[in-house]
Amino acid sequence: MSAQTDSRKKVTIRRLAEMKQAKEKIACLTAYDASFAQLLEKSGVDVVLVGDSLGMVIQGEETTLPVSVDDMLYHTQCVAKGLKNALLVTDMPFLSFTSEEQAVLNAGLFMKQGGAHMVKLEGGVDQADTVSALNKNGIPVCAHLGLQPQYVHKIGGYRVQGRDTGAADKMLKDALTLQQAGADLMLLECVPDILASKITEALDIPVIGIGASLNCDGQILVLYDILDISMGLRPKFSKNFMISSSSIEEAIQQYVSAVKKAEFPAAEHVFN
Ligand code: KIV
Repeated sequence: MSAQTDSRKKVTIRRLAEMKQAKEKIACLTAYDASFAQLLEKSGVDVVLVGDSLGMVIQGEETTLPVSVDDMLYHTQCVAKGLKNALLVTDMPFLSFTSEEQAVLNAGLFMKQGGAHMVKLEGGVDQADTVSALNKNGIPVCAHLGLQPQYVHKIGGYRVQGRDTGAADKMLKDALTLQQAGADLMLLECVPDILASKITEALDIPVIGIGASLNCDGQILVLYDILDISMGLRPKFSKNFMISSSSIEEAIQQYVSAVKKAEFPAAEHVFN
């Protein structure tokens, strides 16, 4: 491990809260295996998400729906082996949190057997009791609002959320309710810039954006998108960092530096 990694403090939910207070941007990326995880660690990524996007970028599925608890556990165990100081978050896959009991058992597996420090789950106010149950059992939670890919068939495609006033008001209310229920972190995906900024300001917990706003407390992207190796089209909100780099490690470092200096996302990566 490099000196840079060794001198870095462990990233905890307290540290993330301090970063929000200090207006220090939080750099997050997805990872699915130990080799990439150690590159992210070396590059100073604060939060590493084992996203259920692995269904699409690792397994070649069209959606994230087929991903199982076993898949998430396996990839969490792999990623944990490559990390030292970054905070490790694992996605709760589709239908793995249909009751509070099921959510606690599955999230518990990710923490006890996988080495995760936090779980992420999609859903608004309907998930407040689940967030609260996880919170009561000592499981940190990242809530996920805006575009929720597990609801793709319900919303009829991958589209920007919260464009009209009613939907925007509901998203802000959902965010406040989830924070009240004990969420420690909030992820906003494909949300208009102005709404993402408003939610970031309204919440005490850090807000991480993807296709949201430069004003969010941090940013996340799918690792394979920044390396330009994802199947299919790269989303508008992503950026190919390989174009200006001579190695994968340099591309990851450039992403971290762009987030930290508030140079990413640029205007072309956000929605109005
Ligand atoms: O599964 C995933 O990769 C995500 C993204 C928002 C980063 O949830």
